[in-house]
Formats: sequence, C-alpha cells, structure tokens
Amino acid sequence: MEVNYQFPQGFWWGSATSATQIEGAANEDGKAKNIWDHWYEQEPHRFFDNVGPSKTSDFYHTYKDDIQLMKEIGHNTFRISLSWSRLMPQGELNQQAVTFYNSVIDELIANDIEPFVNLFHFDMPFDLQKQGGWESREVVDKYVDYAATCFRLFGDRVTKWFTFNEPIVPVEGGYLYDFHYPNIVDAKKAVQVAYHTMIAHAKAVQAFRQFDFTHSKIGIILNLTPSYPRSNNPADLRASRIADLFFNRSFLDPAVLGEYPEELIAILKEHGQLPSTFEGDKELLKRNTIDLLGVNYYQPRRVKAKEHLPNPYAPFMPDWFFDNYEMPGRKMNKYRGWEIYEKGIYDILINLKENYGNIASFISENGMGVQDEERFIENGEIQDDYRIEFIRDHLKWVHQAIQEDCNVKGYHLWAFMDNWSWMNAYKNRYGFYSVNLKTMKRTPKKSAHWIKSVAEHNGF
Ligand code: NOJ
Repeated sequence: MEVNYQFPQGFWWGSATSATQIEGAANEDGKAKNIWDHWYEQEPHRFFDNVGPSKTSDFYHTYKDDIQLMKEIGHNTFRISLSWSRLMPQGELNQQAVTFYNSVIDELIANDIEPFVNLFHFDMPFDLQKQGGWESREVVDKYVDYAATCFRLFGDRVTKWFTFNEPIVPVEGGYLYDFHYPNIVDAKKAVQVAYHTMIAHAKAVQAFRQFDFTHSKIGIILNLTPSYPRSNNPADLRASRIADLFFNRSFLDPAVLGEYPEELIAILKEHGQLPSTFEGDKELLKRNTIDLLGVNYYQPRRVKAKEHLPNPYAPFMPDWFFDNYEMPGRKMNKYRGWEIYEKGIYDILINLKENYGNIASFISENGMGVQDEERFIENGEIQDDYRIEFIRDHLKWVHQAIQEDCNVKGYHLWAFMDNWSWMNAYKNRYGFYSVNLKTMKRTPKKSAHWIKSVAEHNGF
C-alpha cells in the first residue's frame, strides 16, 4: 500500500470504551448499583427500546476473545474504565472485581496492547449519589480514596491513567438538561458539581504523584468542542467565547494550566453563581496539573448571540448568552444527525500548542454513530465506507497538526465494538465490530480491515 500520511513511530492506534457501556454483569460478583442501574429500574421507558445497562455487550464474560479481536486489527493501546461500584461496592474492596480487572489488564499486556485506564465514566455509585454525588465534598474524598486504591492495585502495570472522561457531561446531563440521573435542572448546582469534579481530579493527581511512579502518566479526557461564532459581530464573538469558557475552558484550564480563566470567574461572580470552595483549593489546582490530555472530538459548536435579552429574573444558565446556530450548508452525518467538521480536530490541537504549552495529547475518542447499520450488510459484513471516510478525513487533519509540531501521540476510535450508549442504548452503532444483541456475536465491519492496514503501515 502506498502511504501518503505517515504517522510518527510508536503512534497509538486503538479505541476506547467504558465499563457501564460494555461489561454487562451489572448484578454479578458483588457489583453494587450505579446511577444507571438505578435510573433504568425507575424509568426504563426513557431508554431507547427499553434497553438497560444490565447486559450491554457482555465484555465481563467475553474479554479474552475481545482482546484477541483487538489484536487482530492491530491495536497497540485500548482504553477501559474501571467501575467504582464494582470495585468498591459499599466502600469496601470487592476481590472478585480486583480479579476481573487484573485479568483484563494482564490479558491486554500479554497481547502487546497497552491498557489506558480511566477511573470515572459517568457512573456514580448509587449509594454515593444518595449522599449528594458530586454536589458533596465528602463524595470527592471518597473518589480520591477509590483512585488511590486503583493506583495501588494496578499501578505497577498501568502506564496511562485518566481521572475522568468528559466531566462536563454529567454536569450538563444531570444538572442542566435532564439526560442523566439525578435529572436536576439547577445551574447553581451545576457549577458546584463541575467545580467539585475538578477538585476531585486534582486530588487524584496529587494521590497519584505520591506513589512516585516513574513509568506512568496521568491525565484527563475532555470532549473539547470548538466554538465558532456565526459572524464577526461583537455579540456573536462574545457568545462564542462564553460557550468556550463554560464547556471547554472550565475543565481544560484548571487541568492543564492549574487555574480557572478570569473571565469565567467574573461572569459567575456577576450572577452570584460562584461555587463554594475550601481554603487551599487554588494551590491544589495549581500544583496538580496533568501530564497527558485525552481529546474527544465529535462535532463543533456553532454559536450566535441570543436575539433577545434574557429575562433577568430567570435562573441563570450558561446558555443565557448564546444559542446554538444551525449553520446553513454544514456537513451532517446523515445517519445520526451530528455535524461533521474534520478541521475542528486540527483547530483543537493548534489551540493546545499555542495556548496550553503544547501539552502531550492524543485523540481519545472520535467516531461516527450510525442508526440501523444492518442495512449496509453485504456478504455478511457491514460495508461502513462512510466510517472509513470519516476516520481518514479526521486523521488527515491530525497528520497536518503533527507536521506543524503539535504534540499528538495517538488516535482512538469510539469504539472497538458496538456498545450501550446511555439513554440512546444501542440506537447508534459506533464499533469496528458489530455486536448481535441476541447472540452477542462480534463481526468485523469493513472499517476493521481498513484500520488493521493503517496500524500495520502506521499510516495510509
Ligand atoms: C462520548 C462518551 O465518552 C461515550 O460514553 C459515548 O458513548 C460516546 N461519546 C458516543 O456518544
């Protein structure tokens, strides 16, 4: 194969996933309930086709075979998340869970796949949610205890750690827009939850540093959503900056620079929305910045200023200031509905180079969800040329960013195989492998063969 886009030696080719989305076995071997198990019990109708998290893709039982399939398509890295409610149900260590995660990690390493381990992927243990979840500073300390336990148990072998995946999502879903439990709509709480998440993050980084690991790195995974204003009109520019402050920089700045943007603090102050803090928090954030940033990128945010001034008595929301803008002519994923804007990935990486000290990063998620993907089956396999094109076009921009000295180390697709996606359950399929929900059989899609060749050639 002729290689036009060659990637640096040692580039990470892999994919990502999370515990709740693939493991299944939600009530097995001592796992306690997390918020998803609970919410599904309460309101199954809110989940696509009424499918809940109890079985998902059954990785808990099939991981050995799945790891062989990863190896087959040339993965050298793979991200899992640990389930807090499996590892520490009721706060005590669950030995069966330790055995399971040890075995997954060892199996990956034995197959030359470096495990990337994330500690929290939207799955607050239900008992702790009852105690306030991220609204509570005590829960922050419990998370730090859990994180330190994971470093102690698995830190001899795991070389890439992540404190959180997309910490904005539980804030938006759980405290602003009602698509995650606890389904609260309260912007003041949302700000407090976001703040506590970053305090939990910094404290976990601090705990990690105390282990004095020299072979491993710690980071966070953020869904950076570039904000593009509708026009150069000052109101649109400001609206776009505010969207960026709330949805990107409120996590990116403390994680990488160790402090919150002043403009964000000023806005929150003006609206009486500053979170409550503890003495020493500022120093904690300052001292515990990350080594490695995971960037999840799906689509940008197109922003316009609000046409009418908001009612000053209405509760403050970040989108008080802006509306999402339906830009005419933008390219859409016609099988799911999200915008496809490949250059966004490059804009993110250039921003990291120019404004965030060129922090070491990798694309920790990128991918294309497709509904009713079976309609593309030919000769027993899904012919997902659209996914190949999607990945290739994004990778070209990653390649361009590398030419311009961006410090990018790898690319992970969401996802290795089709998986359960929260309220959408199995509506949108993302995998290199399809999963038959009745038989649990995995079948490679055309993109699986393609990525194998990319990994083999370290380019395409
Ligand atoms: C990001 C999240 O990390 C993951 O949980 C989700 O399923 C994918 N995006 C696809 O929406």
